[in-house]
Amino acid sequence: MSCPRDLQEALRDDLSEDELEELGSSFDIVGDIAIIKLPDSLLDEKQEIGEALMQVHGNLNTVLRQAGPVKGELRTRDLEVIAGDPKTETTHREYGCLFKVDLARVYFSPRLSRERFRIAQKVRPGEVVTNLFAGVGCYSILIAKHSDAEKVYSIDKNGVAVEYMHHNVRINKTGGTVVPVEGDAREVVEEHLRGEADRVLMPLPDFARDFLDVAVEALKPEGGIVHFYDYGEEPDLFEPSLRFVREAAPEKEIELRDREVVRSYAPHLYHVVLDLEIGDS
Ligand SMILES: C[S@@+](CC[C@H](N)C(=O)[O-])C[C@H]1O[C@@H](n2cnc3c(N)ncnc32)[C@H](O)[C@@H]1O
Repeated sequence: MSCPRDLQEALRDDLSEDELEELGSSFDIVGDIAIIKLPDSLLDEKQEIGEALMQVHGNLNTVLRQAGPVKGELRTRDLEVIAGDPKTETTHREYGCLFKVDLARVYFSPRLSRERFRIAQKVRPGEVVTNLFAGVGCYSILIAKHSDAEKVYSIDKNGVAVEYMHHNVRINKTGGTVVPVEGDAREVVEEHLRGEADRVLMPLPDFARDFLDVAVEALKPEGGIVHFYDYGEEPDLFEPSLRFVREAAPEKEIELRDREVVRSYAPHLYHVVLDLEIGDS
């Protein structure tokens, strides 16, 4: 039998037209694991769907069903193995870097790959970067690999993510540049990293607004760049975020250098980023 072209074709004999439409065609691949969300109406078919996905993508060893939203401060999610090896750990390759992750215990999204590379390309030689929400180190390691940054301080509160970050720093040979730090971003900056950075990353759109003062505090006294992640709603994707920043730091001079839609999040709602130059007014 020839290999089916896509998930829809692979399931044509198992699911009705309506079920195929409900299933859609969206899933993520991280290393050798696929993650798929299923509507409740298709839960009885989850095993067939998982096996079909493995048939279509020959390199997969496991298919996970995402059983709930990304949630909580640590941004993790409930996952269920529906086909293949019963595991949640894998190694993902992106722009020449390797990221080992346990998808059930840390945050990771392959959908941010383009944004990570965009940031890495902005970093100038000799810069000190502070990443307030570094996860398993993907932004930080990509920066270390694709720029001549001097240091990338990489904070995360999730001890498991920091363990993986140490491993990833080692396998990508970025130990001279990336410095993993376990802890709360506010406490770590206040105690150790005040006034150190030319550039601050805030890749946590759900809570970035609560940490804007921390990002400003992390910058060198002469100021620098803050990548501020937020949610933007149509039709005004960026202006409310910019207004928030200007109102939250009225004593600062804030220039918008760039702005991007990182990805679509829900109907009319987008994950956005503002690249801000922040200095004293
Ligand atoms: C959306 S994830 C982004 C991780 C990583 N930058 C990436 O793109 O894969 C946000 C990360 O922030 C961490 N986090 C949440 N609150 C934090 C805090 N107060 N201080 C430090 N890290 C925090 C979570 O553990 C999580 O790993």
